[in-house]
Amino acid sequence: MNEVRFGVIGAGYWGPHLIRNLSEIPDSRLTAIVDLSRDRLRALQPRYPYARMSEDPRDAFQDDVDAVVIATPVNSHFRLARMALQAGKHVLVEKPLTRSSEDAAELIRLAEENGVRLMVGHTFEYNPAVLALRETVRRGDIGRVLYIDAARLNLGQYRTDVNVLWDLAPHDISIMNFILDSEPTHVSARGNACIQDGTHDVAYVELKYPEGVLGHIHVSWLEPCKVRRLTVVGDEKMVVYNDVAAEEKLRIYDKGVVKTTSSGDFADFQLGYHYGGVTIPAVPSGEPLKLELLHFIECIHSGETPRSDGLSGLRVIKVLESADKSLHNGGMRDRIHNLESFEVLAGSSASGAVGVYEMVMEEA
Ligand SMILES: NC(=O)c1ccc[n+]([C@@H]2O[C@H](COP(=O)([O-])OP(=O)(O)OC[C@H]3O[C@@H](n4cnc5c(N)ncnc54)[C@H](O)[C@@H]3O)[C@@H](O)[C@H]2O)c1
Repeated sequence: MNEVRFGVIGAGYWGPHLIRNLSEIPDSRLTAIVDLSRDRLRALQPRYPYARMSEDPRDAFQDDVDAVVIATPVNSHFRLARMALQAGKHVLVEKPLTRSSEDAAELIRLAEENGVRLMVGHTFEYNPAVLALRETVRRGDIGRVLYIDAARLNLGQYRTDVNVLWDLAPHDISIMNFILDSEPTHVSARGNACIQDGTHDVAYVELKYPEGVLGHIHVSWLEPCKVRRLTVVGDEKMVVYNDVAAEEKLRIYDKGVVKTTSSGDFADFQLGYHYGGVTIPAVPSGEPLKLELLHFIECIHSGETPRSDGLSGLRVIKVLESADKSLHNGGMRDRIHNLESFEVLAGSSASGAVGVYEMVMEEA
């Protein structure tokens, strides 16, 4: 199978970006586009006359489809992904994978059972700037990571199905997990529902990673300026990733605090500041979404586990669930169950996925 035939479900804001990229990739063929809105389908028909347009999701699970991409609101992810997996299709689900960890674990189990690939749209894990940032950190160029601070702010888009945490924070949680190659053990969150009753539109999340690394995420739909910034502070250097910058998205600052002692007694120390230069590493070009889809196609061909597989989606959901709990409990710190011990099991064997599933169910 050289060409992968795709069905896309959901053609609102994000779906058309997926559809455009799929139509441009030589190894892919767009077979079906599904949306509940006839108007959305009508708008896309002239551009993709060769694709079947339908309001019925079952049209994306027919024999002429190998893989299904789901870009609908979060509440429908589980139901549609389950149907696609049960029909034996490879599935890419937009972030966040599902609305609960039980549902995410069930999708992992189903993918294993049917021998198909399950991937989640953690787009930033395919972003060349994030990959370069990860390499910088992992090579030890900035020393030991002390903390990571992320801000994802703008005015809108308000959603009614999920709060700002579930909408925007999956990106930053997945980036932090990816850079640190780890997952947080504890989370606390505070925020406010300023405009819509009961739906938080601003949140401040604190994540505690192993080895004392602190993660902080500020997300908001109610800010005057668009900000997409992530700062990694190391004990030798600091990196700022600014995703809204037209160029030079990554800047490495040779700055830091130096502790010195003249007497040799460490209780008797002095603080100095080191101000060095700024390095701007070259970042390869490439649209992250296209790179993500190419990776999905590659995994379908090779049978490899995708970088952002179901398990990585589940890890993000666990953080979101705990953060949500904390948000509604006055910012109380919540312990996240560590899935690390299941990683080996979950590799690609069915028993591993079932292990995760059983554990999550037990815990619920
Ligand atoms: N990876 C990213 O950077 C990124 C960016 C934006 C959105 N997203 C994700 O993409 C998904 C969709 O977001 P959006 O902004 O496009 O939402 P949207 O509301 O603009 O579009 C959703 C579309 O799905 C259709 N739909 C709803 N339920 C359906 C169903 N059961 N069957 C078929 N069609 C259905 C709606 O008619 C609508 O056209 C969300 O999960 C969101 O988190 C990801």
